[in-house]
Amino acid sequence: MNITVIGGGNMGLTYALSIHKNFDNASISILEKDEHKITELKNTTPFSIYNKEADCLASADIILLAIKPQAAVLVFEKIAQLVTPEKIIISIMAGVTMETIKDGLQAPKIVRAMPNLPAQLGKGVTGYMISESISENEALQIQHILSATGKAIRVYKEDDIDAITALSGSGPAYVFYFMNAMMEQAKTYGFSENDAKEIVLHTFLGTSNLFENSDDNAQLWIDKVTSKGGTTHAALTSFKSDHLDKKIQKGVNAAFERAKELAKS
Ligand SMILES: NC(=O)c1ccc[n+]([C@@H]2O[C@H](COP(=O)([O-])OP(=O)(O)OC[C@H]3O[C@@H](n4cnc5c(N)ncnc54)[C@H](OP(=O)(O)O)[C@@H]3O)[C@@H](O)[C@H]2O)c1
Repeated sequence: MNITVIGGGNMGLTYALSIHKNFDNASISILEKDEHKITELKNTTPFSIYNKEADCLASADIILLAIKPQAAVLVFEKIAQLVTPEKIIISIMAGVTMETIKDGLQAPKIVRAMPNLPAQLGKGVTGYMISESISENEALQIQHILSATGKAIRVYKEDDIDAITALSGSGPAYVFYFMNAMMEQAKTYGFSENDAKEIVLHTFLGTSNLFENSDDNAQLWIDKVTSKGGTTHAALTSFKSDHLDKKIQKGVNAAFERAKELAKS
């Protein structure tokens, strides 16, 4: 399997390294335009690094587009001639629709994927959608490739990519927001920044692990740890009276609406 990653930035490199780690048979090349980055990639990675499209795309079975969305049109113009119909194009560009990619490359086999930040540690969530011309065997291969950076969830309509963007794509910032609020409160009780981080971070990590290893849903867990008249009950009563759940949902939905708007523009 020959894979060319276009764009050797944060995400491009994340994918190249994750695929390299998970697939013995993957031959990976990176196409990058920044001279400094090219030198760095040559010195620090096991991949073949190119700066000319024609030198690496002809042999690619899969082309992974990891450039910024604003660079998409330019890259499409440069590579369209080299993209033959059997090649699979995987785009992780935020807000660039299947139709835009299909039109730009005149290629039938398109995958639009939306990863998130923890992909860098192999703990990401990626929602993806594939075009009709992709066979079920190829779809399986794509599922494996995208799973190299964490969980990969196939969706069947573009609206769901916007929803994934609003949930897991932007989600890490929501979690940081909640953690930050708790850390600020810890500091008002006199804990140092470092202790506040340890307390909050490990509360999140431990709770996530509990949830991961159990069949109980989140509400059941809340019920289990809340005794009437106790401390947790006091906090949850306060959250509920502020309709915090509705406010979080409203925020997620604002991200969903914005994702739809960006895809249109
Ligand atoms: N970071 C995330 O968590 C995340 C999550 C979901 C989706 N994404 C998507 O992932 C994509 C990449 O994000 P990133 O953070 O990795 O960006 P990045 O670090 O800026 O990497 C993009 C790289 O592509 C290079 N490039 C630009 N035009 C090129 C061309 N014509 N040929 C070859 N290389 C070219 C850029 O070089 P220059 O710097 O010289 O322009 C840069 O090194 C974006 O579309 C983003 O929407 C990211």
